[in-house]
Amino acid sequence: MTDAEIEDIEIRLFFEAMALRHGYDFRNYARASMKRRVLALAQSQGCRELSALIPRLLHDQDFLAQALAHLSVPVTEMFRDPQVFLALRRDVLPVLDSFPRISVWQPGCATGEEPYSLAILLKEEGLLHKAQIYATDINDVALAKAEEGIYPARHLAAFSQNYQQAGGKAALANYFHTAYNFSKIDDEIRERIVFAHHNLVADGVFCEVNLVLCRNVLIYFDRSLQNRVLSLFHDCLVRGGYLCLGNRESLQFTDFADRFRVIDRGNRIFKKREAVQ
Ligand SMILES: C[S@@+](CC[C@H](N)C(=O)[O-])C[C@H]1O[C@@H](n2cnc3c(N)ncnc32)[C@H](O)[C@@H]1O
Repeated sequence: MTDAEIEDIEIRLFFEAMALRHGYDFRNYARASMKRRVLALAQSQGCRELSALIPRLLHDQDFLAQALAHLSVPVTEMFRDPQVFLALRRDVLPVLDSFPRISVWQPGCATGEEPYSLAILLKEEGLLHKAQIYATDINDVALAKAEEGIYPARHLAAFSQNYQQAGGKAALANYFHTAYNFSKIDDEIRERIVFAHHNLVADGVFCEVNLVLCRNVLIYFDRSLQNRVLSLFHDCLVRGGYLCLGNRESLQFTDFADRFRVIDRGNRIFKKREAVQ
């Protein structure tokens, strides 16, 4: 057996231990990226062999948080891929305006930049007063940051460029209060978002929504897990509800390709088909 094959066994055992001991099931995440992350975790702990991580996982309560921080990568930014937000502003929000209330689910919200971006979009299109955003993630450290809504002021400069490209109607700084190099999101924006722990692998649907915005999360899942998660999205969307995925994600080759109509292929915007009678 080669070293690489032995390493694959160690990785499988690590994820078995994680699922059995802590209930976090990463076994259906895409292999290559998880392998990179477990290797990085082992390196950060000074472990020469991956299997040395397993006793830590089983017996050291404090280790779980460190392991999860390595396995979930909450990389995000405000108005990431601005053309997607421009398309939502132009093509989706005007349709949602016909509803008396607008509910949105953003799974994999990381540190909150994406839900705050959407809330700003809703505000500028005159819809925020009737909107409710549920922003969820498995990473509690990221969620705590999201809930605070405080970001280094220097990040705002980069985010501002995205915001302008997304058709921003004011200055991004108008939605923040800046002091001592930190910028805090305005309460009016913050109040429309509920941040909560939700695990797409294990948890069910908890609301009915008009839009699911889930970007750069499915890419980490294998096909069977993508199908599970897409079934959650399909179940929670109202008829004619919208689904927006990340730029490198698609419904093609999933069980849900026929259940959604493509609205904007480039920006990965789909609409739930009416049920067949
Ligand atoms: C790369 S970030 C994407 C952030 C944001 N959606 C964006 O596109 O900028 C992926 C997020 O998915 C979250 N995630 C990974 N597995 C998850 C799961 N099973 N349930 C919920 N969130 C998960 C991670 O914790 C991380 O915050």
